Amino acid sequence: MDPIRNPFAPGAGTPPPELVGRDDLRAALRISLERTRIGRPAKSTMLVGLRGVGKTVLLDRIRQDAETAGIHTVRVEAPEGRSLPAILAPQLRQALLRLSTVETAKAYAIRGLRALAGFANKLKATYNDIEVGFDFDAEPGLADNGDLEHDLQALFEQVGLAARAAGTAVALFVDELQYVEEAQLAALITAMHRTEQRQLPIILVGAGLPQLRGQMGNAKSYAERLFDFPDIGPLPDDAARLAISRPIISEGASIDADAVDRILALTQGYAYFLQEWGSHTWRVAPRSPITLLDVEAANAQAIAALDESFFRVRFDRCTPKEKRYLRAMAELGAGPHRSGDIATCFGTKVSSLAPTRSSLITKGMIWSPNHGDTAFTVPMFDSFMKRIMRGDDWRE
Ligand SMILES: Nc1ncnc2c1ncn2[C@@H]1O[C@H](COP(=O)(O)OP(=O)(O)OP(=O)(O)O)[C@@H](O)[C@H]1O
Ligand SMILES: [Mg+2]
Repeated sequence: MDPIRNPFAPGAGTPPPELVGRDDLRAALRISLERTRIGRPAKSTMLVGLRGVGKTVLLDRIRQDAETAGIHTVRVEAPEGRSLPAILAPQLRQALLRLSTVETAKAYAIRGLRALAGFANKLKATYNDIEVGFDFDAEPGLADNGDLEHDLQALFEQVGLAARAAGTAVALFVDELQYVEEAQLAALITAMHRTEQRQLPIILVGAGLPQLRGQMGNAKSYAERLFDFPDIGPLPDDAARLAISRPIISEGASIDADAVDRILALTQGYAYFLQEWGSHTWRVAPRSPITLLDVEAANAQAIAALDESFFRVRFDRCTPKEKRYLRAMAELGAGPHRSGDIATCFGTKVSSLAPTRSSLITKGMIWSPNHGDTAFTVPMFDSFMKRIMRGDDWRE
């Protein structure tokens, strides 16, 4: 098959040739966004799921849908080690500048920019990574307490007032939310709560690993009522089939049904894996129709590609002890596993592994679906760990 025409798109946040299986969620979000615009109560939404299930591309698609509908959007990714106010400030400035071009919203947007100046000036003392251009002077008393929870709320209110005056809504899209520190997460939740109470047209669409739900609940106990947390999981069989067959058919080629079934079984419907297997199968197939034999021939290459990228980048971020912890987990299977079982397998006590477990959670490698349980955040990570750490020398 022509490698230039290969339609599959394995990657991080790389839009797939066919975004399947998410129509209901997109429709629900469209309703929420429109309700927000007209000042009706609408829940903010956090897309939660494991690595590679398609949260980022879904977030971006929902954002495109919103922009097409004339809603103003702000898009940020919370990187590890940077503060939320620092990544939000420049984007909010852009949104306010855009709103200031709408005649009815101009005065509100300018006041919003003043709020932003006060916000950034004061919070710089705490979050010294804040860097944002100033268009107007700060207004004393407006978003300049120096307390993030208060000031973010005041800033969001100004943004909301400007959006309302412009007859639109502002939708904030924040990816990798699980990396935001608890105090900053609390401030974000409070700010969203406040704008909701005031029926201002601001809505938050976030994405993160499954631990996000618990993190938000810890930050503010009412967060679980304030937001929806739809689970983004592997694609159901019919959708996964389409993810493979449609792009091939669009290229004027075809694939046998048993070949598609085999890809579904190998990938368990995980979006990233579907793209990887689709891509490698296309590469090795000599001609259309693509057959089961082609899938079998591509299998080793697809696994090697995953090992070198998707799995490897995660593995490389871990300390030797963390790697051994993950290896012990893998020994027990896909999981989730009890902390006691992991410790026994490792050859030590639960208490001596607690710091390792907790740093792995902070890094987003594992999470705790229930008290005392530990699970991988990366699908099929157990088999990868067994491939990369052979032998027995990881035990205590
Ligand atoms: N609904 C879908 N149908 C087909 N392919 C998809 C779908 N969603 C995502 N993909 C593909 O899966 C891969 C992973 O998507 P994405 O980066 O959005 O996942 P993610 O959940 O954000 O992962 P991470 O947690 O690592 O950031 C991409 O190659 C993308 O093209
Ligand atoms: Mg992502």
